[in-house]
Amino acid sequence: MIINNTDIFTTAVKPEGFPKTGLPEVAFVGKSNVGKSSLINAMLGRKRLARTSRQPGKTRAINFFTVEDKLYFVDLPGYGYARVSKSESAKWGEMVEGYLKDRPQLKRIFLLVDIRHEPGENDKMLYEWFLHYNLPFTLVATKSDKIKRSQVQKHTALIRRVLGAEDAPIPFSSDTKDGRDSLWSIILDSCGLSNLTL
Ligand code: GTP
Ligand code: MG
Repeated sequence: MIINNTDIFTTAVKPEGFPKTGLPEVAFVGKSNVGKSSLINAMLGRKRLARTSRQPGKTRAINFFTVEDKLYFVDLPGYGYARVSKSESAKWGEMVEGYLKDRPQLKRIFLLVDIRHEPGENDKMLYEWFLHYNLPFTLVATKSDKIKRSQVQKHTALIRRVLGAEDAPIPFSSDTKDGRDSLWSIILDSCGLSNLTL
């Protein structure tokens, strides 16, 4: 999959700022530093389209990226960043949940967890919240390059068990592009774009 045409479309903190074109959207959510912005860059074949950082808390607003004028990738700020105040965490909830809950064109959410760690309380809450609102989502285990190949299955099985999920997460690495094709196929399917040849 080669993406020729992608760019930042808009940055928003409130529904008034979200795109009004009605194009399908896929969103990436997860703990700060889990690799959401890096995954978007790897999927789109760009190095620095979505801003990344070693410091958690890099993405602070909701960023929409156009992809071939057919869909948007939505980069969300992460949660569970210890240095933000209570009022800032509350703002996160309002902003992100407000987006996720009221968005008919949102065709799939990718919930990212680090392949090396057991999902935390925030991950579990979000997982339950998706089920409760019946939102379409897929689990992704990021940074798969950080563990030995022989350990991947053990780690994804543990994540599945801790969340009580039906399916194990898809291993993904922004460095090696592991999982890129699987995610693309889910994205195009979810957006009704399976015929798209890029
Ligand atoms: P926030 O915007 O703070 O919520 O973080 P984020 O989830 O967008 O994480 P980001 O993509 O900025 O990545 C955080 C750090 O993890 C950066 O130093 C990345 O280089 C590193 N990283 C992300 N994905 C991978 C990966 O697949 N493999 C490795 N080895 N490092 C990764
Ligand atoms: Mg980010």
